[in-house]
Amino acid sequence: MGTRRVLVTGCSSGIGLAVAARLAKDELKRFKVIATMRDLGKRMALEKAAGDSLNTNLEIKQLDACCEASIRECVNSLPDRRVDILVSNAGVGMIGPLECQSIGAMKELFDTNFFGMARLVKEVLPDMKRRQSGHIVVMSSVMGIQGLLFNDVYSASKFAVEGFCESLAVQAMKFNIKTTLVEPGPVVTEFERKVYEDAEKMDLSETDEETAKIFREVYLPYSKKIFTSLGQTPEDVAEQTVNVITAEEPPLRHQTNRLYMPMTALKHADPTGRLPLDAFYKMIFKHDAVFSATLGLLRMVQRRVGKR
Ligand SMILES: NC(=O)c1ccc[n+]([C@@H]2O[C@H](COP(=O)([O-])OP(=O)(O)OC[C@H]3O[C@@H](n4cnc5c(N)ncnc54)[C@H](OP(=O)(O)O)[C@@H]3O)[C@@H](O)[C@H]2O)c1
Repeated sequence: MGTRRVLVTGCSSGIGLAVAARLAKDELKRFKVIATMRDLGKRMALEKAAGDSLNTNLEIKQLDACCEASIRECVNSLPDRRVDILVSNAGVGMIGPLECQSIGAMKELFDTNFFGMARLVKEVLPDMKRRQSGHIVVMSSVMGIQGLLFNDVYSASKFAVEGFCESLAVQAMKFNIKTTLVEPGPVVTEFERKVYEDAEKMDLSETDEETAKIFREVYLPYSKKIFTSLGQTPEDVAEQTVNVITAEEPPLRHQTNRLYMPMTALKHADPTGRLPLDAFYKMIFKHDAVFSATLGLLRMVQRRVGKR
C-alpha cells in the first residue's frame, strides 16, 4: 500500500496534535498528514512536535469544523481532493448542572461535537465511495457509551456521534470504507483544564443549593480524582489511534483505557440499565472511601503497567 493521506482536525493541542505528530513521524513513512486547526495562530505547539516532519510528511491547514466552507476549501486544496483517512477529532466539553446551561450553549457544543463531524464525513464520503476505499476515524469518548452525571449535554453529543457512525458503518462497508470510533476515558489535555476552569467560574444561581453543593463538593473533586488516577496522555491515545488505523480489520469501537473498561462493561451487563445506575449512584454518593481506595489501587496498577 502507498502513502496514505490523513486529514486530522483539532490539531492545535491535545489528542489531535499528538495523533498528527505521531502519524507524521511514522518510521515506515506510511502517511502524509494534513493537520488542521481553526486558528493557525496556534500552530507553534504542533510545529514543535512535528519537528523534521513539518512540511515533508506534515502540512498544516486551516479548518473550522463548524464552517462548511472552510472544510470544503481545505479538502479542495488537496490533490484530487483525496483523503484516505479522516480523523475527526475536534471537540469541546461542558460540565455542570443542566439548569445553568443555556440552550444556545448546548447547540454550540453540538455544532462542534456532532455537526462538525457530520459536515466532515459528508465532505469526504462521496469521494471515498467513488474510490471504494477509505477509513473514517472519529474521536468519541467512553461518555458516548455510558453517561455521567453533570455531563448530560457532552455525553449526549457523543451518543449522537456513536449512533451516527454505527448507522453509517454498514453502508460504508458496502463501499469498502472502514469506520472506527476511538473511545478514550479521561485524557490529560487542555480539554480538562478548560472544562474545570469554566466550572470554577460557573454561575450556579440558576440551580438549587443541594445540586450546586453536589456539583462543587462531590462531583468536581470526584472527577479530578478520576483524571489523576486513570488519566491517559494524549500520546498514549495517539499510539492506539495509529494501531487502529494500521489494523488489517479495524474495529468499529476501540476503548483506549483498560482501567475504565469495568465502568462501560456494566452497561452491557444489564439491559434494564439498573446496574450502571446503581453502581454510579453508590460510587458517588455512598461509598466515597471505597471509591477513593479503588482509585488508589488503580493508580498503582497504572504505574506498574507504565513501568513495563
Ligand atoms: N480529554 C479528554 O478527557 C477526552 C476524553 C474522551 C474524548 N475526548 C475527545 O477528544 C477530542 C480532542 O480533545 P482533547 O482532549 O485533545 O482536547 P483539546 O486539547 O481541548 O483539543 C480540542 C481541539 O479541538 C479544537 N476545536 C474545537 N472546536 C473546533 C472547531 N470548531 N473547529 C476545529 N477545531 C476545533 C480545538 O481548537 P482550539 O485550540 O482552537 O480551541 C483543539 O485543537 C474531543 O473530541 C474530545 O471530546 C477527550
